[in-house]
Amino acid sequence: MRITVIGTGYLGATHAACMAELGFEVLGLDIDPTRVASLSEGLLPFHEPGLPELLGKHVKSGRLRFTTSYQEVGAWGDVHFIGVGTPQRAGDGGADMSFVDASTVALAQSITKDALIVGKSTVPVGTTRRLKTLVQDNKRPGVTVNVAWNPEFLREGFAVVDTLTPDRLVIGVESREDEAVLRKVYATALAGGVPLISTDFETAELVKVAANAFLATKISFINAFSEVTEVIGGDIRTLADAIGIDTRIGRRFLNAGIGFGGGCLPKDIRALQARAAELGVDRSMRFLDEMDGINLRRRERAVDLARTMLGSLSQSRIAVLGVAFKPNSDDVRDSPALDIANRLSDEGAQVWIYDPAGNSNASRRSPQHHYVSSTEDAVKNADLVLLLTEWDEFKALTPEGLSVQTGTRKIIDGRNILQARVWEDSGWSVASLGRRYVTTQTTHRPPSEQLQMSSGPAV
Ligand SMILES: NC(=O)c1ccc[n+]([C@@H]2O[C@H](COP(=O)([O-])OP(=O)(O)OC[C@H]3O[C@@H](n4cnc5c(N)ncnc54)[C@H](O)[C@@H]3O)[C@@H](O)[C@H]2O)c1
Repeated sequence: MRITVIGTGYLGATHAACMAELGFEVLGLDIDPTRVASLSEGLLPFHEPGLPELLGKHVKSGRLRFTTSYQEVGAWGDVHFIGVGTPQRAGDGGADMSFVDASTVALAQSITKDALIVGKSTVPVGTTRRLKTLVQDNKRPGVTVNVAWNPEFLREGFAVVDTLTPDRLVIGVESREDEAVLRKVYATALAGGVPLISTDFETAELVKVAANAFLATKISFINAFSEVTEVIGGDIRTLADAIGIDTRIGRRFLNAGIGFGGGCLPKDIRALQARAAELGVDRSMRFLDEMDGINLRRRERAVDLARTMLGSLSQSRIAVLGVAFKPNSDDVRDSPALDIANRLSDEGAQVWIYDPAGNSNASRRSPQHHYVSSTEDAVKNADLVLLLTEWDEFKALTPEGLSVQTGTRKIIDGRNILQARVWEDSGWSVASLGRRYVTTQTTHRPPSEQLQMSSGPAV
């Protein structure tokens, strides 16, 4: 079975390399010739742990190739995965489907032998059925081209392991034959016990957006309580630990902080609302608007705290540690950290940024900041430090260690990863999202801080 992958970004390049790792011959296609040239040399154009090794191995063996030619893909492949982008469209926040539609039409017109097109992009419910018609209208006569949907749940930073051993596989199919093809593609994972949910198109599409809506809601839920504890006091981490022990709730995705971002959750909850409005069920998804609002207010709160700590942001020098939307990724799409950095500089601050992987993507989007290659260079001469992405190297910071590198003793912990009390005992002024901040941090410390539990796995 020959597999092609259309769109070789975070999702597609990972899927292509993992399919090769599973033993398939794979051809990846992208309309970006620079990306194709880089991948063809075995060079990954983004940061993803473990992926460069897989890419290099299978490009070298010849099992994995890349092209810009739809003709080549259409003549060669048996199963064509579509993993092109579905960004937020301007205006109503719905998904911009132009890349999915364009790639589907180009593919359908190029396919010269019976094949199955399998969508992986995150799409509005109803897309697969619409694309099925588009394919029938554009395919060559005499060729059978079926359509299925197989939403992707990989997490950046864990993309390889998530693709090779996912929690579950979801497929939307219209025939047993198409299901059998996908069972063959995923035979290794299925043999390893990964559950497969085979369902209709609409359910498969909805599983993905429902999962993202739930995760976004969980993050915003704890952040809503942050807004309460910031006013009245209380310890948001202990609150999360305590409710998270209840297995019906679970501790993951209950980390209070500057909120979610990236190329998926924000756009996916907005696209879901836009689609619900088109379907006349906008009230059902209206709560997501509130979740979005809570999330965006966290960014404002971080800037408010910076203003409070410095008096004025104008002429200040601020170190930002972490600009990727999450650790182990270089992705800065809708990154809360980068948004906060931009807001700080809009108010006249000079922002010095260090991220272990995200600097170059961030500097393309926001060239107004200073980008440096170490924590030490970022914090040197800073008036305030903001810790905004929970990379391991930032989790390992100590007040003594950082004190040697900077003159300031002011830090905002945007991810609730520092033990505030330890830092304060070393002379630092610490503001954390979800924690009441008073200018002199001499307020009584609740016993919960002394009994701080592990804050659970990072999400
Ligand atoms: N990034 C993730 O972690 C992740 C996880 C699950 C689902 N998804 C979904 O997967 C999809 C892709 O996301 P991504 O993060 O990989 O995006 P991306 O922007 O990194 O990659 C998209 C790629 O598609 C290419 N492309 C655009 N139009 C094309 C066309 N007509 N033909 C061929 N290639 C084309 C682009 O050049 C780009 O390389 C989105 O729907 C996203 O929501 C992403």
